[in-house]
Order: sequence, then C-alpha cells, then structure tokens
Amino acid sequence: MIDEDWHRVCRTTELGDEEVTQLWIGDTPLAVYCIHGEYYATSDICSHHGANLSEGYIEDDMIECPLHQGCYHIPTGEVRKGPACEDLPTYPARVEDGWVFVQYAEDNE
Ligand code: FES
Repeated sequence: MIDEDWHRVCRTTELGDEEVTQLWIGDTPLAVYCIHGEYYATSDICSHHGANLSEGYIEDDMIECPLHQGCYHIPTGEVRKGPACEDLPTYPARVEDGWVFVQYAEDNE
C-alpha cells in the first residue's frame, strides 16, 4: 500500500547538486530538489501567486520564487522571505538503485 504512494522522479545523475526538477502526479506539480546530496520534495506552487518554484533559483537550502522573489527553506517548506505567505507542503524523498523517489498520496488534498 505504502509503495503505491512512491513515485519515481528521475535518476540521481539527472538531478545535480542545487538543482530542482518538476514532477507531476495527477494534477499536482511537485518540485524535487537535490541539496548537498540530500533529496527533498515540496509543492511546486508558490503560496503568493502560484508561480512554479521549479523555475526558481536555489541558493544553499533555499528556493527563490521566480516571480516576486519570495523564499522558502527547502527541507521544511517554511517561508523565509515575503511576499510568499504560507509554508509549502513537503513530501518524503529517497534514493533506491540510483533513482529518486517521492512519496505522495494522490488523495493527499
Ligand atoms: S508568486 Fe511567488 S512570491 Fe509571488
């Protein structure tokens, strides 16, 4: 049952350090990050005006929104700079056999 909620994202070699990629699960876009060898996943939708954070800029462990430069802490999803206004949902990520997986239940919402 739990395994059904794990979604394959990409090979680890396809997501370099301080890079982000987008993964759609059903109608939901997630942002998946590699930060100093660790993998993280958050909602891809900025809480301010809905920009895709996977098109933003990573600095250290923060993602900056490409539209109005709001910032979030990637591991926790916490807002660190406005105008982003609500923390991001975060999701577990793991590596297995060279692949990155994210856990997301489609009935999450
Ligand atoms: S849409 Fe992200 S800060 Fe405005």
